[in-house]
Amino acid sequence: MTHATPPSLFSDVLITDPHQAYDQLRKIGPVHQTTTPDGVSVWLVTRYQDVRKALADPRLSLDKGNAHSTGLHQSSMPPELDAHLLNMDPPDLTRLRRLVSKAFTPRRIEELKPRIQAQTDELLDAFTDPPVDLMRALANPLPMAVICELLGVPLDARRDFRAWTNTLLAPAPDAARESRRAMREMHQFLVEIIAAKRTHPTDDLLSAMIEARDTHDSLTEPELLAMAFLILFAGYDNTVNLIGNGLLALLLHPQHAHAVRDRNTLVRDVLEETLRWNAPFMLGVRRFALKDITIGGVRIPVGGRVWVSLISANRDGTHFASPASFDPHRAPAHLGFGHGIHYCLGAPLARLQGDVAITSLFHRFGRLKLAVPVTELKWVPSFHKRGLQELTVAW
Ligand code: HEM
Repeated sequence: MTHATPPSLFSDVLITDPHQAYDQLRKIGPVHQTTTPDGVSVWLVTRYQDVRKALADPRLSLDKGNAHSTGLHQSSMPPELDAHLLNMDPPDLTRLRRLVSKAFTPRRIEELKPRIQAQTDELLDAFTDPPVDLMRALANPLPMAVICELLGVPLDARRDFRAWTNTLLAPAPDAARESRRAMREMHQFLVEIIAAKRTHPTDDLLSAMIEARDTHDSLTEPELLAMAFLILFAGYDNTVNLIGNGLLALLLHPQHAHAVRDRNTLVRDVLEETLRWNAPFMLGVRRFALKDITIGGVRIPVGGRVWVSLISANRDGTHFASPASFDPHRAPAHLGFGHGIHYCLGAPLARLQGDVAITSLFHRFGRLKLAVPVTELKWVPSFHKRGLQELTVAW
């Protein structure tokens, strides 16, 4: 099956207005073959049923060794940080996931609540007079504090993760050098932290992973390093944007904000709908076809690189009624945390942080409103993530 040429794929519109761009792409066809800005050929899957199936399809591998397309060498990720879950298939995936999943059960995560609440209260106490940028004052620092505490990164060792992650996920090919520099810095940072923990272990996830490595030989040294990288990288930035996008949704829908303030709507429901309506993680990790496969009637050859658009699937009108409206009361069936064997390990932690941050903010500042016109909101330039640069409010 062939389809009309999709409009401006990987052009600015996918960043400035991804919803509108993906609405068009879904209409034109289920799967679009295209080339990324750094010259890599990909098949982009846009519709809900196809995306959901692809996420759980064992014929699609996350192991880069199965790529046939050129351009892989242009990846900014250094091989030293490659040995993590999002580059793996079973059985390695199963072994490593089992190792860290104990730290992410809903019960273990719930134990973190008092600390998350205390960190949130501290940030809210520090609010200046309005206007206040909620990204800078709350959405950004809270997940950084939480993930560092979970891993056991001491306060004085913390670096500017936001600058690193924004650079890493920048779309422009000319950002490749910056991106490699950010990766080198992040790599160095992790090597130093692991060395320090080896000498002085503490009661945290990183020390537990080091023990699993050194005492039980349950993972290799590169896996240890890459796992720390993945948890920091995946755990921090997406949560920043879940909080930011959730706050924006409430600011744009005052009726739901009032319901949250009056405790008539659960923030948990607001967060689920945010994960559908404005998914922080727009594109699933690239996958490689292990054999010739057909998705949405389009043939993808063995080794072909497949991208699944979560943000697009979540707005598919054949699956969700009135997909563009924000409705926290609809049944959650979004793909914002992925689906299948790579389903987000940190989902309970992200939900808890979002809940504490948004509940506390709206209960303390009941009359929040946007301090800038909605048309002036700036999004981080990325095809991968959906996050605000600033969210300035008054009350
Ligand atoms: C709102 C916040 C978050 C979003 C939207 C999100 C989204 C996702 C998605 C979509 C995937 C699957 C990717 C794919 O299959 O292509 C994923 C995987 C993963 N996430 Fe999250 N994530 C969030 C928060 C977190 C947090 C807080 C952590 C850890 C502290 C975390 C750790 C992971 C890990 C380790 C994986 C890989 C799982 C695997 O491959 O088995 N994430 N995440």
